[in-house]
Amino acid sequence: MTGINRRGFFAVGGGAIALLAAAACSVDSGSPSSGGKGRIGISMPTKSSERWVADGSNIVNQFQALGYTTDLQYAEDVIETQVSQLENMLTQGATALVIAAIDNKSLTGVLAQAKRNKVAVIAYDRLIRDTADVDYYATFDNFEVGVLQAAYLVEHLGVAVGPGPFNIELFAGSPDDNNTYFFFNGAMSVLQPHIDTGKLVVRSGQTRIDQVTTLRWDGATAQSRMENLLSAHYAAATVDAVLSPYDGVSIGILSALKAVGYGGARKMPIVTGQDAEKASVKSIIAGEQTQTVFKDTRKLAERAVQMTNAILTGGTPETNDTTSYENGRKKVPSYLLRPVSVDKTNYRAALIDTGYYTDKDLQ
Ligand code: GAL
Repeated sequence: MTGINRRGFFAVGGGAIALLAAAACSVDSGSPSSGGKGRIGISMPTKSSERWVADGSNIVNQFQALGYTTDLQYAEDVIETQVSQLENMLTQGATALVIAAIDNKSLTGVLAQAKRNKVAVIAYDRLIRDTADVDYYATFDNFEVGVLQAAYLVEHLGVAVGPGPFNIELFAGSPDDNNTYFFFNGAMSVLQPHIDTGKLVVRSGQTRIDQVTTLRWDGATAQSRMENLLSAHYAAATVDAVLSPYDGVSIGILSALKAVGYGGARKMPIVTGQDAEKASVKSIIAGEQTQTVFKDTRKLAERAVQMTNAILTGGTPETNDTTSYENGRKKVPSYLLRPVSVDKTNYRAALIDTGYYTDKDLQ
């Protein structure tokens, strides 16, 4: 595929401030908690994924440590619920909003209201599109996430050394999430040259992003697509690898694979993932899922809190990328954190030694 360029990662030394509150603050998703500096509305997509639960509580703890009032809401992946929760936050006098959008294009109206109220808006993890009323974006290097997944597949299949060709199938995330395109483009920047030479074969022929997305990142949707792919294209062939963009999707893919004997009589393909969710790290330790990409939600929360606090105290948030994230109306100044590839060999160093999980969490 031509036209995919590796997005540069602009590492700017960060003077990270210590925000991690030792105090355990209660995270009541429905009611605002106490504090004096201003009220922050925190809008997360869903509690059904463990990572957003961790993001929400990390953000709340860090804002409260700085003396802010917080109002954390989850919209259970319903777009209208997220919009009405945001409207309600504005009615209650929010001074800033930190938002991980469900649908990247549905917040234009409510953010126009935020702008009229002079409320600061931070896009959290996912870019909000089609509005000039988003001030900053805190995220990970999303292109790099895809590069890490695909580079892992290529290396562990042994594409450079093995006889091949190797059979691979591709999955992407939700089409209404801007990250989906960055992840997929990053992955294809690595995979496409090998598809072009015939060393990697996509037997289904489904290589365009519009053929491989997974609405709302839903594992059951991915499972049913994988079942269809297996019955249509692998009755007499073996899948060697599956590009999966996210752990919840990987779980669905693995179920479909196990149902037809992979991981038992047949060797489990290499399956990637993202978020290092506990169930998937356990699956990696058990030898089912192969890899995930760890994005430390503590660091992302810290970044979003720093950005918001800088705006609300008259400062300028630190950014390290002002060009990559064009949202249809403007280039949103961003801070990109570094994602880390994790598998059986380094999960302990990446996840346990850093205090993200305990040994017990992964038993
Ligand atoms: C993406 C996010 C991923 C994953 C996915 C599903 O926007 O960047 O890390 O969490 O949503 O929740």
